[in-house]
Amino acid sequence: MSSYGGGRDGALTVRPRRLRATPAMRRLVAETRLNPAELVLPLFVREGNEPRPLSSMPGILQHTTESVRAAVNEAADLGLGGVMLFGVPDAKDAIGSGATDPDGILNEATRVVVAEVGDALVVQTDLCLDEFTDHGHCGVLDSEGRVDNDATLLRYRDMALAQAAAGSELLGLSGMMDDQVAAVRDALDTNGFENTAVLAYSAKYASAFYGPFREAVGSTLQGDRKTYQQDPANRREGLRETMLDLEQGADIVMVKPAMSYLDVLADVAAISPVPVWAYQVSGEYAMIEAAAANGWIDRERAIFESVTSIRRAGADVVLTYFAPEIARALREPL
Ligand code: PBG
Repeated sequence: MSSYGGGRDGALTVRPRRLRATPAMRRLVAETRLNPAELVLPLFVREGNEPRPLSSMPGILQHTTESVRAAVNEAADLGLGGVMLFGVPDAKDAIGSGATDPDGILNEATRVVVAEVGDALVVQTDLCLDEFTDHGHCGVLDSEGRVDNDATLLRYRDMALAQAAAGSELLGLSGMMDDQVAAVRDALDTNGFENTAVLAYSAKYASAFYGPFREAVGSTLQGDRKTYQQDPANRREGLRETMLDLEQGADIVMVKPAMSYLDVLADVAAISPVPVWAYQVSGEYAMIEAAAANGWIDRERAIFESVTSIRRAGADVVLTYFAPEIARALREPL
């Protein structure tokens, strides 16, 4: 006999709705919470004197090394866990020279941000060449125009040293080259940066949801990244990539994008002995903003539901452009 309807006089005895009856009860029994300390804010920093708004990411700016100061101080005041910096250089070339130039925009921005909030936030940097190459790929190209895995690793090694020297505490390896974690770990360890940590974008898929990011970093990419980023059709492969990164010494692993890959995230969370993060990417942000601007969804509820779902699926920390807004909303009583 089912317990439903099994009570005295056929009355219901099991009523899950009891625990949903009031805001205070719902808050008490919530299995997943959002906490500012578990959010990381991605930030774009460009060369030049004027911050620029991004049409495909309403509310998000390409900062300057000046305007980013206020943004990171606000992030610190809000109690966020960290910031992930992306550089937007003026000049690009075939090998992404700006990425390894100590005075390149990302390394410069890192020094500025570390000086500003290095004690309060974990300052992180994107370690990938696409922002710096004129062809827009995440690596250097061979004579046939294909992304050259092993030649790219040499660039990543140098980029890691430049970022670590600039003060980045956590390097976000987002290029999806084979063996990139091992290469960067070795470069760091043999140059006195044993304490610089590696965040491996382990399961990173070739996604349409990076669309607005291309505007955000002024990408010149023609074509796609399907020869190095994963096929959205593949779930098992996400685990394989994660296990390889763990073997190579990743300190943290990440799944990206988030919302279309919650199954992969749950898989990774089930096996990972290190923290598991997820990235709610630019297109995920833009979809919520666009639908809300049209009055089609409730913006704040969609933000909380989406990020809560990513945490529920297994992410310890979420990179999200909504981080400051979530932190502000969490200060309000229920
Ligand atoms: C690579 C990188 C990308 C993103 C983060 N790191 C772009 C890509 O792989 O095409 C996307 C982030 C976003 O869409 O918010 N440097």
